[in-house]
Amino acid sequence: MGFRCLKPLLSFLVIIIFFISLVVKKGFTISGPCSQCHTMHNSQNGQPVAENGTSAQPFKALTIGDCVFCHTGTNTGTNNIPYVMSNTEPVYNFGGARNTLAGGNFYWVQSDDSKGHNVVGITGEDGALGLVPPGYDPTNYPEFGKYRPSTWTQQLTCAGNFGCHGKFDANNPELNDPFAAISGAHHKNINRNGTEPADEVWDSYRFLWGIKGTEDPDYELHPDTQHHNGYYASTSPGDPASINYLCGECHGKFHSDTYNGTYASPWLRHPTDFDMNQVKTKEYGGYPNPTLFSGKLGVSAVGDYFADVPVGNTQGAVLSKVLQNPGDAIVLCLSCHRAHGSPYPDILRWDYSTCKASDPSPQCGCLACHTQK
Ligand code: HEC
Ligand code: HEC
Ligand code: HEC
Ligand code: HEC
Ligand code: HEC
Repeated sequence: MGFRCLKPLLSFLVIIIFFISLVVKKGFTISGPCSQCHTMHNSQNGQPVAENGTSAQPFKALTIGDCVFCHTGTNTGTNNIPYVMSNTEPVYNFGGARNTLAGGNFYWVQSDDSKGHNVVGITGEDGALGLVPPGYDPTNYPEFGKYRPSTWTQQLTCAGNFGCHGKFDANNPELNDPFAAISGAHHKNINRNGTEPADEVWDSYRFLWGIKGTEDPDYELHPDTQHHNGYYASTSPGDPASINYLCGECHGKFHSDTYNGTYASPWLRHPTDFDMNQVKTKEYGGYPNPTLFSGKLGVSAVGDYFADVPVGNTQGAVLSKVLQNPGDAIVLCLSCHRAHGSPYPDILRWDYSTCKASDPSPQCGCLACHTQK
């Protein structure tokens, strides 16, 4: 073959390599070229750029893929897309090394329904729980005019009426679509702080509409006492900006005071929205139990914030020391659970089967608060 024949072949290869490099390129950021994330006609050289499942249908907002497509990968510390799903088993050690982010990872729910939220595009409907969130109460929080669907006719999605992120309004079926629910948020996203307004999706904590708090810049990839999310919490379960309220939107009976007892010991359900300063003279004053957890994620003394058994505060601030002032150590759903997925049943942060009263284990997170059990 002469050079004349090779030339078109070479240019063809150069073009192919160029497009491959666009796809695998690291350092993806919202400030990058539009073409890293968008395709105008979903056609390039007559071939589709994006594939919706097995068909070549385009995606909403002209993106090259859906939420799960873009948010799948392995967190290295240099990727600018936060990865919440991985195709290979992530590193996850309670109190130790990990490459998962604050919400955990959806990897494990693919093979075990109990190890994560069963989100569309990741896995099918939860075999044991079905579509309806455990503890769902459609009459919860009507005073705020924000409703979840009264009947759960769809599987959980990343965003929208049946999802956790983005806008929802049970009377507006357009918001069943995750892209409609989150529209515009990516380009306007801010690194939000504390109790600043959270009226829109883009200025809310992690696009969780209406929720306040402070966002850790690396999504808790490498947390310690000073580097972590600042969870906004309240001692009123009805405060619609708290991270507990978010969970309560769908799991109301595990959250609202009507179902949890008189808001004091002995409890009916495990308390949340409860300030541990109120029981500081009991075992809770010893949080996070340095006898067991010293050396883990920077913990060395009583009152140090332990990022793997987090507590919230009424400022939504990043505190390295807690139990210093009223309202700075509030029990969260997230004190025990991850939001996306974990290697353990009930999406717990640690392996609950290691929790034995007779034999305190540094693998049992309950003991960070129940320091004398
Ligand atoms: C790193 C990925 C990324 C890059 C780069 C990017 N976008 Fe986007 N864009 C998105 C995502 C994701 C959405 C859909 C979700 C949303 O609306 O938040 C979106 C939505 C949009 C929308 C509809 C919503 C809105 O904000 O108005 C427009 C218009 C848009 N992009 C234009 C652009 C243009 C023009 C460029 C280049 C200058 C660009 N984008 C670059 C990720 C990106
Ligand atoms: C938009 C509704 C919605 C929100 C918000 C929500 N969940 Fe869920 N959750 C569900 C649904 C639906 C199920 C049952 C199906 C499944 O497992 O995905 C579920 C299941 C669970 C389970 C049981 C998992 C299993 O399979 O055994 C836990 C634990 C859980 N959620 C915790 C939380 C926590 C903690 C929050 C707040 C960070 C939260 N959820 C927010 C809808 C929601
Ligand atoms: C084209 C790729 C792309 C698609 C599609 C996409 N995202 Fe993102 N997403 C990104 C990038 C890039 C960032 C980081 C943005 C930043 O740093 O400001 C991000 C950030 C986020 C964050 C973190 C926001 C914060 O406040 O820190 C959330 C939550 C999120 N995306 C949810 C979604 C949901 C839900 C969908 C589907 C409706 C979606 N994304 C679709 C690329 C994408
Ligand atoms: C973030 C701190 C924290 C974590 C983690 C935690 N708890 Fe608690 N727990 C509390 C507080 C605070 C109370 C309320 C104590 C009171 O009112 O005297 C409580 C109450 C209880 C009660 C009821 C006690 C009563 O007097 O009615 C039980 C049982 C319990 N916890 C078990 C557990 C188990 C099991 C785990 C692990 C799965 C766990 N807790 C994890 C803080 C925590
Ligand atoms: C003290 C730790 C702890 C706290 C705080 C906590 N949970 Fe749980 N959660 C558990 C454990 C342990 C289980 C396993 C079932 C059980 O023991 O009742 C569980 C189970 C669940 C389930 C699954 C129920 C089912 O039927 O399979 C859901 C949903 C759930 N929790 C949501 C929440 C929500 C929402 C909050 C906050 C309002 C919350 N949890 C606070 C420890 C906790």
